[in-house]
Amino acid sequence: MALFRIRRGAPEPERQSPPAEDWNPSGFALPRHVAIIMDGNGRWAARRSLPREMGHREGVKSMREIIRESGRLKIEALTLYAFSTENWSRPKDEVGALMSLMLDCFRNEIDELNRSGVRVRVIGDVSRLPDTHRAEIASASARTSGNAGLKLNLALNYGGRDELVRAARALARDCAAGILDPDSICEASLAARLDTAGLPDVDLLIRTSGESRLSNFLPFQSAYAELVVTPTLWPDFTAEEFHRALDEYFSRDRRFGGRK
Ligand code: IPE
Ligand code: IPE
Ligand code: MG
Repeated sequence: MALFRIRRGAPEPERQSPPAEDWNPSGFALPRHVAIIMDGNGRWAARRSLPREMGHREGVKSMREIIRESGRLKIEALTLYAFSTENWSRPKDEVGALMSLMLDCFRNEIDELNRSGVRVRVIGDVSRLPDTHRAEIASASARTSGNAGLKLNLALNYGGRDELVRAARALARDCAAGILDPDSICEASLAARLDTAGLPDVDLLIRTSGESRLSNFLPFQSAYAELVVTPTLWPDFTAEEFHRALDEYFSRDRRFGGRK
């Protein structure tokens, strides 16, 4: 099939997602906001005796596939954890490789994302990222800001505690400036100062690679999220795996502390 023919020097063919009609025949309501802790790139590489960087590179293919599938399913928002505030503690060469991969992604993927109607934003403290990254992030956000499709949020130098501290500072500043009465502060006024302001709460939080922890990801926004942990390593995570996580979500009884 022409679709799968590999020409020398041509980019690898994209993995093909199963058609959406083949799945969710009952038409269950999709989560509005899916967040993913994309974990296991290092182990994927180690199992193949490859450098960790190769695992991160392979992980970008999964990102592409899941972004495409989320758009096709008309999920409102997808937030992907790409680099945490704690990831700076990794060896310099790995941090460097991740930073350069990040830049490549912004440079190589934005045209396609823009064509697909994706609105790209970054959450996290971008002030610690290099100027080149900040410029690419600003340009990607500006170029795609009018798009009406998937709201894609990339978490870069993101830490949930750091985000809450920055939001607390913003609240304090507004109180000091007399714009805000401290007694009127409520959940909504805090949420409005988070990096995810304007997005719905996370409905489904997926973590790959079998680890059952949050690792400082979206603690406020995920307060009532359904958690799905899969042993699959992120570079092996496909649209089919994504469907399985969504099926698991459909089977959950979300009570929000109430009673049926
Ligand atoms: C996730 O993969 C990617 C980032 C944290 C940037 P890891 O690099 O954490 O992979 P493992 O957990 O070591 O397998
Ligand atoms: C979480 O994965 C961060 C990202 C996926 C970007 P880590 O691999 O850094 O988390 P821990 O160390 O297992 O908690
Ligand atoms: Mg990890």
